[in-house]
Amino acid sequence: MSALSAKALQSRLRARTIGCRIHCKDRVASTNDEAWALAVEGAPDGTCVFAEEQTGGRGRLGRTWHSPRGAGLYLSLLLRRAIPLERVPLVTAVAALAGVEAVEAAAGLVPRIRFPNDLVVNGRKLAGVLVESRFISSRPDLFIIGFGLNVNQGEFPGELREIATSLRIEKGGEVDRTAVARALLEALDRGCDALEGPLPPIRRLWRRHAEILGRDVRVRLNGKSISGRVDEVDPVDGLLLRLPGGEVRSVRSEHVERLELV
Ligand code: BTN
Repeated sequence: MSALSAKALQSRLRARTIGCRIHCKDRVASTNDEAWALAVEGAPDGTCVFAEEQTGGRGRLGRTWHSPRGAGLYLSLLLRRAIPLERVPLVTAVAALAGVEAVEAAAGLVPRIRFPNDLVVNGRKLAGVLVESRFISSRPDLFIIGFGLNVNQGEFPGELREIATSLRIEKGGEVDRTAVARALLEALDRGCDALEGPLPPIRRLWRRHAEILGRDVRVRLNGKSISGRVDEVDPVDGLLLRLPGGEVRSVRSEHVERLELV
């Protein structure tokens, strides 16, 4: 299992901005923290940080991201774009779509997007996106897109055993992390540029890859579970959930603690 290198990633990289600077670290707490530190030092739009291992990899809502050495891709991307507030949920959406595109190009599998920020294959989690933002001007203009993708994990510990998967498990053999990482940077480059263009194509594409449209789900919100059928799903507006009594409830992405198919 060879380590990622900036030189290998940048050779043949077809990207306008994303990956203009690449830092490959060995062991860090979280690549998102590394990216924030680079942002404070003035690193440019498109700077990326990869790590071989994270000791404090984090997910949404304070969860941890299992980041064993050399097995997955753990990366964070610094985006300096002034994005109107109403488009902010689309940053996660374009990152998830970039993950779908990259996994298809580099490994021949097409993951589905589990609202709001997971990529799943055969119902198991393959990847997750964690977007963090800060306002420097009057609107969000600095984002860190954290991406964790299970590539060569052969098995998962504890409760992850039942719910996580990797490209190696799905493909039945090792996958070249550099090829997947390069495909991801290229797809993120296109996706981040699309954030400044018309929204309907992003929403349509995202919806086409959404796993849960028309499915029965259980959603955990504010510590409580509700079940229903997904009538509509959109990266900005969230879910429309038809409850067993027929009532329709709207659920926004930031309130979703957990979502399971039932
Ligand atoms: C989630 O599923 O809740 C999001 C997981 C995001 C994990 C990635 S790994 C690289 C980056 N650094 C982190 O600490 N988290 C993100």
